[in-house]
Amino acid sequence: MSDASAPPPPERSSFFRNWLSLAGAIVAAGSLFAFALLVAIDTLAHKANPYVGILTYLVAPAFLIGGLLLALIGWWLRRRQAARAPGAAEHLPLAIDFSRPRDRRFLGFFALGAALFLLLTAFGSYQTYHFTESVAFCGETCHTVMQPEFTTYQHGAHARVSCAECHIGSGASWYVKSKISGAYQVYATAFNKYERPIKTPIRNLRPAQETCERCHWPEKFTGNLDRSYVHYLSDKRNTPYTVRLSLRVGGGQPGEGFFGGIHWHMNVANKIEYFAADPQRQVIPWIRMTSATTGEVRVFRAKDFQGEPPPASVRRMDCMDCHNRPAHAYQTPNQAVEVDMALGKISTRLPYIKQTAVEALTTEYPDTGRAFEGIAAALRRKYQADDEVAPATAAIQRIYKEDFFPKMKADWRTYPSNIGHKDWPGCFRCHDDKHRTADGGATVRSGDCNACHTILAQGRGEELSRIAPQGVEFKHPGGDLDPGVLCSDCHNGGSQNQ
Ligand code: HEC
Ligand code: HEC
Ligand code: HEC
Ligand code: HEC
Ligand code: HEC
Ligand code: HEC
Repeated sequence: MSDASAPPPPERSSFFRNWLSLAGAIVAAGSLFAFALLVAIDTLAHKANPYVGILTYLVAPAFLIGGLLLALIGWWLRRRQAARAPGAAEHLPLAIDFSRPRDRRFLGFFALGAALFLLLTAFGSYQTYHFTESVAFCGETCHTVMQPEFTTYQHGAHARVSCAECHIGSGASWYVKSKISGAYQVYATAFNKYERPIKTPIRNLRPAQETCERCHWPEKFTGNLDRSYVHYLSDKRNTPYTVRLSLRVGGGQPGEGFFGGIHWHMNVANKIEYFAADPQRQVIPWIRMTSATTGEVRVFRAKDFQGEPPPASVRRMDCMDCHNRPAHAYQTPNQAVEVDMALGKISTRLPYIKQTAVEALTTEYPDTGRAFEGIAAALRRKYQADDEVAPATAAIQRIYKEDFFPKMKADWRTYPSNIGHKDWPGCFRCHDDKHRTADGGATVRSGDCNACHTILAQGRGEELSRIAPQGVEFKHPGGDLDPGVLCSDCHNGGSQNQ
């Protein structure tokens, strides 16, 4: 405030001297500083993070524009005030006179405040940057949208691998791509535009060579894996049935141990490409195999497919074509109930409990609350209250909570798993005995039950202790099988109780 008795003629710029404009200028300066800082962190950081783009290029500029607007509004209000009552306007003391103690104090406070403000901005920007990279941000911030993926992820083998490690990886061009898609995702979540369920296969998923293969070595020889698959039939006694397999996973490189088996597809000594006729890649009418050693090319076609597929739709097979659910496995109701039965969480003494539990889970419910009521009611109808019913009810409700997401329309039906062949076509998409080369050659046949695994034992109790290393013929608990019918023509993990 000037001491002069007569106010100076109003200058246009002096209208900026008001509290509102000053606040605006401070916000603008702060956001400019945060912007510079974020750009610096982002360039120096080792790992790419798509959401920082939103912070840097959307949030910081929004604050900058907001601050500038605020300053303008202050200017405009001030001008209007001055026009109405010239001379009445009070100006901020912007002329500083160091000889006055009041001005010196004011400047001191201002410098301290500014330093504190910049420090807080820097701290805030850095914290926000770290937060956007965290699993909590991916999985919890957009809670409903990512809830299915977050829940299944926590129960998977990769629960300690961050979302960004598989979904983003490192490298400049993917960095830009993931920024664009990250910005779109935030927009979609904010404006409720996301699809339910989220569609797969994810089109812009990074190739396995740059994600999975950074931790898993494709050449490595895995050997045989011994696995037991525990089942219970849907009869009154819930008859147990287990099949024990030795899976011939093998290896992908001749120099690294036995070469062949399931991991022979691993693209090291071979290249396998295929064309899928549907968006979910469940129908594969054309396969091309190129040997890296001899250069020999063989093309396998389904009977009703002639000619060549469009070159742009040909995909080179990688880990994710078999392991497409490494982090988000939605258990089938059949599987989940059987595991809990084997663990004793659901008592096998309850008659028809396998069938009842699977039926209760596969009924459609609008939300989890209603599902819990429905499951409890289904068990009440079937059984007298006793001390085995309450724990069984709780176990079935927990299965629902972990594997069914009605709000996102996500469960095992939405996301096929390609690793086997029982509930989904999986391996039998190509190994179904119907794909042939022009001269009649075929891929490994679906009917050759001991080609990919050896059936070591099957049945229950005593039967399981008699192991046959050379492999036995499959005894199907559901009756004799027609060679032309695929397992997934009948089995689907739940809907028909199989
Ligand atoms: C081990 C690697 C890996 C990790 C870790 C991982 N994902 Fe995935 N994610 C995948 C693969 C592979 C797919 C399936 C791609 C397909 O089918 O096209 C997928 C699919 C998805 C989908 C599509 C819908 C679905 O259910 O298939 C979303 C959304 C998703 N992931 C989010 C996340 C979030 C959030 C996290 C962290 C909490 C995460 N992912 C961690 C590998 C991973
Ligand atoms: C950051 C490192 C990392 C990345 C990236 C990664 N994995 Fe893994 N993966 C692991 C570790 C560690 C384990 C062992 C976990 C355990 O046994 O508890 C594992 C286990 C596995 C298993 C065996 C467990 C199971 O689920 O049966 C498979 C299969 C697998 N990974 C496939 C993949 C695929 C496919 C991808 C790419 C989408 C991938 N991994 C990406 C580290 C990684
Ligand atoms: C042709 C399909 C197929 C391809 C392609 C494939 N795998 Fe596998 N992989 C399997 C099968 C089947 C198993 C046996 C385990 C099972 O059934 O879950 C297995 C087992 C594994 C295991 C051991 C799991 C354990 O429990 O010890 C790892 C790790 C693995 N694969 C990683 C990879 C990676 C990484 C790639 C890509 C470089 C890849 N696989 C490509 C089918 C495949
Ligand atoms: C996209 C098509 C495709 C899919 C899906 C596929 N395979 Fe194959 N697989 C092939 C082709 C092509 C060959 C080579 C056939 C030949 O050489 O006659 C092959 C060969 C094999 C071999 C023989 C390897 C050797 O030692 O010579 C095994 C074992 C095998 N596959 C197992 C599997 C398993 C298990 C799955 C499912 C997890 C699977 N495949 C999924 C296309 C596929
Ligand atoms: C192309 C390779 C391949 C062929 C051929 C094949 N299987 Fe399998 N099978 C697999 C793989 C891989 C798994 C493991 C799936 C998993 O880990 O979930 C499997 C799993 C199984 C299981 C256990 C599934 C469960 O959930 O209980 C049974 C039973 C089985 N196979 C029976 C057969 C029979 C019977 C045949 C012959 C008609 C056959 N398989 C032919 C690859 C094959
Ligand atoms: C014609 C229809 C049909 C076909 C095809 C079929 N199944 Fe089954 N399967 C059944 C029926 C019915 C049962 C008895 C279900 C029950 O009592 O719970 C059954 C039971 C089973 C069970 C034990 C119970 C369970 O729920 O898992 C296994 C394991 C099994 N089948 C594996 C296979 C495999 C592997 C194939 C392919 C090689 C196959 N089935 C093909 C109808 C079929």
